[in-house]
Amino acid sequence: MASVLEHFIVFEGLDGAGTTTQMQLLAEACDQRSIPCHATFEPTDKPIGRIVRSALRKEIVITPLALAMLYAADREDHLHNPVYGLVGDLQAGKLVISDRYLYSSLAYQSVETDFETIERLNQFPSPEYIFFIDTPVDECLRRIKGRGNAEELFERHEFLEKVKQNYERIFSSLPQEVKLIRIDGLLSKEEIARQIQEILFTE
Ligand code: TYD
Repeated sequence: MASVLEHFIVFEGLDGAGTTTQMQLLAEACDQRSIPCHATFEPTDKPIGRIVRSALRKEIVITPLALAMLYAADREDHLHNPVYGLVGDLQAGKLVISDRYLYSSLAYQSVETDFETIERLNQFPSPEYIFFIDTPVDECLRRIKGRGNAEELFERHEFLEKVKQNYERIFSSLPQEVKLIRIDGLLSKEEIARQIQEILFTE
């Protein structure tokens, strides 16, 4: 079984759930408390992540399995790159906060590729905390439309329902050491941030 990375915190949720906002608010809260932290995200803005994003924008067409492999390759690089790898930040004593991690691959890629294959591609260490921003699909879609983005590959109702079911499946069999915290995604962003900080900073 893969190990657990202490002080590694990840946010998970559907598109539009608010993970990016919460990652940023937590990073700001760390700054205010002078806690050294590194806020990051997947897919990354590094070379492999950029290929993933061009596939999401449909600039290139690749198979679902190839996309799953790219997400996993981006993650391996995100963890272990000698220059910007987050394991290096953890070793330097920083708190690392990531907007999405391997649970996004398990939840999203397993809609089109079998779960066991995606699991095999994602033998990475667990984070210490997963904050799951639990936002209903209809609300996520409403927010996505409000953003006025060109519709991305994953932003469809039926698809997001399946992703949500996959998250539930994953969370029912997490390693015991991983702390899964579910947050009601319909709360205000300030209240969600408050709940997260209460858990992290009062333990
Ligand atoms: P993200 O950058 O969080 O979306 P946004 O465009 O709102 O900033 O993620 C991009 C998409 O990639 C999102 O639909 C979730 C999906 N995704 C996967 O399918 N698998 C993964 O492993 C990851 C990290 C993201």
